[in-house]
Amino acid sequence: PLVNTREMFKKAYDGGYAIGAFNVNNMEIVQGIVEGCKELNAPVILQVSSSARKYAHHAYLVKMVEAALEETNLPIALHLDHGSSFELCKDCIDGGFSSVMIDGSHLDYEENVKVTRQVVEYAHAHDVTVEGELGQLAGIEDAVNVSADKASFTDPSQVQDFVERTGVDSLAIAIGTSHGAYKFKPGQKPQLRFDILKEVSDRLPGYPIVLHGASAVVHEYVEMVNKFGGQMPDAIGIPEEMLREAASMAVCKINMDSDLRLAMTAVIRKHFAEHPDHFDPRQYLGDARAALTELVKGKIINVLGCANKA
Ligand code: G3H
Ligand code: 13P
Ligand code: NA
Ligand code: ZN
Repeated sequence: PLVNTREMFKKAYDGGYAIGAFNVNNMEIVQGIVEGCKELNAPVILQVSSSARKYAHHAYLVKMVEAALEETNLPIALHLDHGSSFELCKDCIDGGFSSVMIDGSHLDYEENVKVTRQVVEYAHAHDVTVEGELGQLAGIEDAVNVSADKASFTDPSQVQDFVERTGVDSLAIAIGTSHGAYKFKPGQKPQLRFDILKEVSDRLPGYPIVLHGASAVVHEYVEMVNKFGGQMPDAIGIPEEMLREAASMAVCKINMDSDLRLAMTAVIRKHFAEHPDHFDPRQYLGDARAALTELVKGKIINVLGCANKA
């Protein structure tokens, strides 16, 4: 069966590594990711945003992830990314997800505590783990677009109270990562607030922390997009060494979506440029799927450190 994240995170915390949480919305993405995990014997979290769920439909996503499990026998969690309400979390729990995020980070503190507590009570009664969030990342997720000046780092003085009162199993924090492909301005030096991460983990010993917005925005794929007719000038992500450092600390889950999108798009653009006569989707989607496998293997080795941890 699908696993929740409890055991995964305990091992990751103790082992000084992190689990990759990759967003999925179609078959080639699921297959590409789990093939990479299988080749390196790595546990994995496949996560679905509410807009991905609208796009692909709940039943397709669950069945595809179940098929991935059947073919690989890896520890796989199926996780709701950025759940915005108790009802959405409940639908996913009732419909077979093994983990959910309730993202109350846009609410005021007491409202965040209240909705997170409500989800935890329902989830734990069904052996499902829950991720909460404190602090606001900049960038775009679903309909919510947080501008850089509205974003705010997590306040470490709140984390202990939040975790105690909600019972949440893991906590996403804001330390300078952001969603999307434009995380820093050109010329700006990428930086993460490791001091906040340290202070949070001092206050929550042994407790798993989550990083969203953690794509590296791999430069070779940005160049490939731009070379083959795309326009993504100044796309910049988080340097992989910084993420590896975070993974060696309390960070046990690292979310990546933009890197997968970028790799697929780059490879498909290249395929069309080089084979203008091709019109069988298996040809270009096959290339895209293979690129995802290589991308994920690179993440497992260079960022996550979770090879042979399945
Ligand atoms: O946090 C955002 C994820 O990258 C999901 O994005 O809502 O466009 O599927 P999406
Ligand atoms: P990226 O946009 O950096 O890939 O972040 C994805 C994410 O945090 C999904 O929840
Ligand atoms: Na870790
Ligand atoms: Zn996110």
